[in-house]
Amino acid sequence: MRLLVIGCGGVATVAIHKCCQNPLFTEICIASRTKSKCDALAEKLAPSTKAVITTAKVDADSFESLTELMNSYKPHTVLNVALPYQDLTIMDACLACGANYVDTANYEAEDTDDPEWRAIYEKRCKEKGFTAYFDYSWQWAYQDKFKEAGLTALLGTGFDPGVTSVFTAYALKHYFDEIHYIDILDCNGGDHGYPFATNFNPEINLREVSANGSYWEDGHWVETEPMEIKREYNFAGVGMKDMYLLHHEEIESLAKNIPNVKRIRFFMTFGQSYLTHMNCLQNVGMLSTVPIEFEGHQIVPIKFLKALLPDPASLGPRTVGKTNIGCIFRGIKDGKERNIYIYNVCDHQECYKETGAQAVSYTTGVPAMIGTAMVASGTWKGAGVFNVEEFDPDPYMEALNKDGLPWVVDEAPVLVD
Ligand SMILES: NC(=O)c1ccc[n+]([C@@H]2O[C@H](COP(=O)([O-])OP(=O)(O)OC[C@H]3O[C@@H](n4cnc5c(N)ncnc54)[C@H](OP(=O)(O)O)[C@@H]3O)[C@@H](O)[C@H]2O)c1
Repeated sequence: MRLLVIGCGGVATVAIHKCCQNPLFTEICIASRTKSKCDALAEKLAPSTKAVITTAKVDADSFESLTELMNSYKPHTVLNVALPYQDLTIMDACLACGANYVDTANYEAEDTDDPEWRAIYEKRCKEKGFTAYFDYSWQWAYQDKFKEAGLTALLGTGFDPGVTSVFTAYALKHYFDEIHYIDILDCNGGDHGYPFATNFNPEINLREVSANGSYWEDGHWVETEPMEIKREYNFAGVGMKDMYLLHHEEIESLAKNIPNVKRIRFFMTFGQSYLTHMNCLQNVGMLSTVPIEFEGHQIVPIKFLKALLPDPASLGPRTVGKTNIGCIFRGIKDGKERNIYIYNVCDHQECYKETGAQAVSYTTGVPAMIGTAMVASGTWKGAGVFNVEEFDPDPYMEALNKDGLPWVVDEAPVLVD
């Protein structure tokens, strides 16, 4: 099976490592903006895989650049692990060239001041009640196009979204008649030793974290100030951590796809130092995406900040500790109340030894490979645009255990109030 991977950053590095270990992928093309990174990865992986690896330069913001590459390589499936800004161009190119599409993050506009985008965004904020810059409406709008083309688009197969959504489908299939409450808990107990760094793309990460929080309750969104809701939780493998309620993209798809759900919340852990740095950067305008004039040049503050911060791909060797990501479900089975917690614990240094990347890239890259394998093998089949919770969770859950992200079911979890 011929696979095209677009992007060659932290997540892509792990996904490609894992694809090289999976005999399903016999030919892999690594294509990104900076071809030298693709060449270096190909050179590293070639001696230990049977897959034929090639590399290419591509501008994933350009439909022409993408279709030129896809028409010559003719991939069966394209794994998009570039940035959410490129989702729609890559989906368009897949439709034009007859390839299936897989990604890990929903569409986000790069230029949030574009008046055409802004008008649609503001209408959506009013109608739906949450103000995050990213949402599924753009990609769900491709449903008919993928259906007519007989192609599959699989959205959001990272850890969260991705594994957390598969955990939900698995819990519903095997443990509940109805799920009423879902709390998704994302804990990173890792320490990289820097005063401030982000574990994945800083632009995407800081925009997500500095935005308003929100959760789904009784059929509508409830929006909060950034970091307004705080809880403490004692995570297996990590210990006690502060966690904060954030808006997160899987809430939107789970609210649509899980019948009878009453509330869905997402919490992420942050240390005080991270929050103090982030607040300060926000207060001085460094998180802004609006270009400013500086000594005769136009610069975008958050892009400049990205250039100053450590490259997330370089954190691998210095990050120690564990992540724990999972979901607490409350619902009913056979008329009785039931609570379960499904989670994975992942060790930063173990991930680094295996792939050269820390656990945040690992926990995203492994499910990116698994989702791609589900589509490429036809295990998950269908024409149209799908979120991962819409398919049978069992083969995916099995693959998680086999491919490095084993999970645990706790049938008596401590709940979050
Ligand atoms: N679902 C989840 O759990 C989850 C968790 C974390 C991250 N993610 C998502 O995973 C994706 C990758 O994250 P990451 O941390 O690996 O980011 P990253 O390290 O910044 O890597 C992004 C890669 O995309 C390439 N790229 C950017 N713009 C491009 C363009 N126009 N054309 C071609 N290539 C381009 C970059 O090229 P250069 O090397 O030239 O910069 C880089 O190789 C993001 O969409 C992120 O939101 C999902």
